[in-house]
Amino acid sequence: MSAPPELTSAALAADIPLIRLRCVTKVYGVGPVALTALKGIDLDIRAGEFVAIMGPSGSGKSTAMNILGCLDTPTNGQYLFKGAHVEALSRDQRARLRRRYLGFVFQGFNLLARTTAQENVELPLLYRGESTPVRHAAAAKALQSVGLGGWEHHTPAELSGGQQQRVAIARAIVTEPAVLLADEPTGNLDTQRSQEIMDLLTRLNADHSITVLMVTHEPDMAAYARRLVHFVDGHIDSDVPNPHPVTLTPSTPPGEMR
Ligand SMILES: Nc1ncnc2c1ncn2[C@@H]1O[C@H](COP(=O)(O)OP(=O)(O)O)[C@@H](O)[C@H]1O
Ligand SMILES: [Mg+2]
Repeated sequence: MSAPPELTSAALAADIPLIRLRCVTKVYGVGPVALTALKGIDLDIRAGEFVAIMGPSGSGKSTAMNILGCLDTPTNGQYLFKGAHVEALSRDQRARLRRRYLGFVFQGFNLLARTTAQENVELPLLYRGESTPVRHAAAAKALQSVGLGGWEHHTPAELSGGQQQRVAIARAIVTEPAVLLADEPTGNLDTQRSQEIMDLLTRLNADHSITVLMVTHEPDMAAYARRLVHFVDGHIDSDVPNPHPVTLTPSTPPGEMR
């Protein structure tokens, strides 16, 4: 006797990687100036993973992240998200998938200047059409969870680099995404601040089951991830588990992080 359909699909869903890239290529430009940034990438990522993407400058890391984040499309190949073919979606459908499932953190924080931490964090919920009370409550909670309770009304210029990146992380998680994509999130920060950001990403992964994909060229930061994917010249050169991921540093009371 066959299993009920809902059971079959649930079982299937549990077995399907959250993200699957198959023979993904990306060519920028055409004709003599065409540049092949990705030369056929295969990558499976399961829900709950914490993956560091490493490799030299120009090896295609950001190109891959932009495709994974539905900010750009592959030239060829397949991108499956929860089994759905992303490469076949319309621009609007891709935007919806992005808003529903993905959160982004960038090297340069990308916060709106002259706009408070609270308002920056509320922005993705505004795009979603959430009401003011819902936005306020969710943003306050997200800021609290990155250790910035009490800093809601400060603008980026009034915050340190580490604090600005934590506001950006709060903005990324306020929608409760399945996946957090971070492209060199510690690239503009000193070692101490970088470790605080890595502790935070590690906690979000461990405690909130957020799948984390992080580009970094710093081995000290990649050491927090549980899987290391290395790009060279548009290819994945190696993809290995991290045998000894960094364990969290003793937690700093959130208010004292600066
Ligand atoms: N929008 C673009 N137009 C043309 N070439 C690009 C574009 N973005 C990236 N590239 C090129 O693609 C290659 C891979 O870039 P990128 O993915 O940014 O590498 P990484 O993040 O590993 O440094 C580089 O040669 C880069 O110059
Ligand atoms: Mg890059």
